[in-house]
Amino acid sequence: MSVKIVVGAQWGDEGKGKIIDLLSARANVVARYQGGANAGHTVVVGGKKYVLHLIPSGILNDNTVCVIGNGVVVDPIALLEEVSVLEGLGVQVRDRLFVSHRAHLIMPYHKLLDQVKETQAAEKKIGTTGRGIGPAYVDKANRMGIRMVDLLDRKAFAEKLRSNIVEKNELLAKLYDQDALAPEPIVAEYLGLADKLDAFAKDVSTYLFEAIRSGKNVLLEGAQGTLLDIDFGTYPFVTSSNPTSGGACSGVGVGPTCVDEVLGVIKAYTTRVGMGPFPTEMGDSEDVNLRALGDEFGATTGRARRCGWFDAVIANFAVRVNGLSSFALTKLDVLDTLTEIKVCVAYSHKSDTRTNFPSEEQILLECAPVYQTFQGWQQPTGDIRSYEDLPTRAREYIAAIEDLTETQVSIVSVGSGREQTIIR
Ligand code: GDP
Ligand code: IMO
Ligand code: MG
Repeated sequence: MSVKIVVGAQWGDEGKGKIIDLLSARANVVARYQGGANAGHTVVVGGKKYVLHLIPSGILNDNTVCVIGNGVVVDPIALLEEVSVLEGLGVQVRDRLFVSHRAHLIMPYHKLLDQVKETQAAEKKIGTTGRGIGPAYVDKANRMGIRMVDLLDRKAFAEKLRSNIVEKNELLAKLYDQDALAPEPIVAEYLGLADKLDAFAKDVSTYLFEAIRSGKNVLLEGAQGTLLDIDFGTYPFVTSSNPTSGGACSGVGVGPTCVDEVLGVIKAYTTRVGMGPFPTEMGDSEDVNLRALGDEFGATTGRARRCGWFDAVIANFAVRVNGLSSFALTKLDVLDTLTEIKVCVAYSHKSDTRTNFPSEEQILLECAPVYQTFQGWQQPTGDIRSYEDLPTRAREYIAAIEDLTETQVSIVSVGSGREQTIIR
């Protein structure tokens, strides 16, 4: 029996989907604990590409049950669309996917508010995915959210929805100069969706408790990443949930004493989508090169990802705030052709050298990375399957990351394919 949390250690897109897919071969249950359809997890199996947004990346293993926890904000339209895309690709989803009764639902006004707020924010925009994530968590915290469990009583559900639309219309008109939403077509549409969602509703916390008690292997899947965490990320340029490991327990309803391990997924370099500080971001020419080498374009919005060197300051921060047991280091192969590879070992700020990730946005913006330069290995690694067979310089690079973070790299990924993985 084991319960393992898998968390992104940077700004998301670290390759969590690939690692979850790989580990789920030995997991009975995979449970997603936060975020929503803002995530984009690409998994490549047998040369076939699958992009998952809400559904846990364990779904591609036939024997794994996938659950969506209470901490996730679920867009019914996005969920049903994803189910149908997967079914179209031959993946059996029914009876293997369940959604917590306590999960909050994303409604059309959440998406609209997210988008108009961003459009009108000018320089203050966050660069959100526009999927309604922030506004849905606002309603949750404001105790006016609509949950999966509300679907059980259709009449009460319709009343809550109507009353929320009336309130949101005020906001849309007065703050954002938008036309009012007509409540009845939305109520009718979502009552129709409710009939389709019934089959997925489950008491996820009880299900996981029993699974863990009976000795099953469980993976708790995080979306986004440590630096996008609402408490520990580069606030306000963050998402509206807790991707860090602490969010896993509250996001699925299991206690921390159940958890055996926390695996941090980290790229061999760094990327970020959207606005906000990024100390190791590269200059234009380098940036374009790494983006092309790593195919760094968002799976959800198609946006070009900002690229930078590996940052050991944030890696250490991720070790601390998540209590990482080890790292899964991904996309090592993307660095194969480089002659030199840099690693940020500290930040220089005015006359200080800092190794502790600052909480102040302004200080972070003023921090300059202090780099250590490594010689590239300039050999392809994509076909290598054992650690000892990696080029010496690649092993030196990995050893340096381990030394700087005092944390072992237990998995090395050298390609997007499930098989392109070295487990130590
Ligand atoms: P996630 O959001 O953390 O699941 O990551 P994404 O799926 O958004 O982005 C990671 C991208 O890199 C995907 O397109 C993966 O197929 C791909 N990928 C994952 N691991 C590797 C790797 O080791 N090497 C290469 N070249 N690509 C990888
Ligand atoms: P995965 O799971 C990378 C970013 C957005 C924006 C900020 C807030 O694929 O790693 P939101 O829509 O959540 O309110 O946007 O967070 N963001 C991600 N960046 N990977 C993701 O997910 C992300 N999900 C949200 O770009 O900067
Ligand atoms: Mg992604």
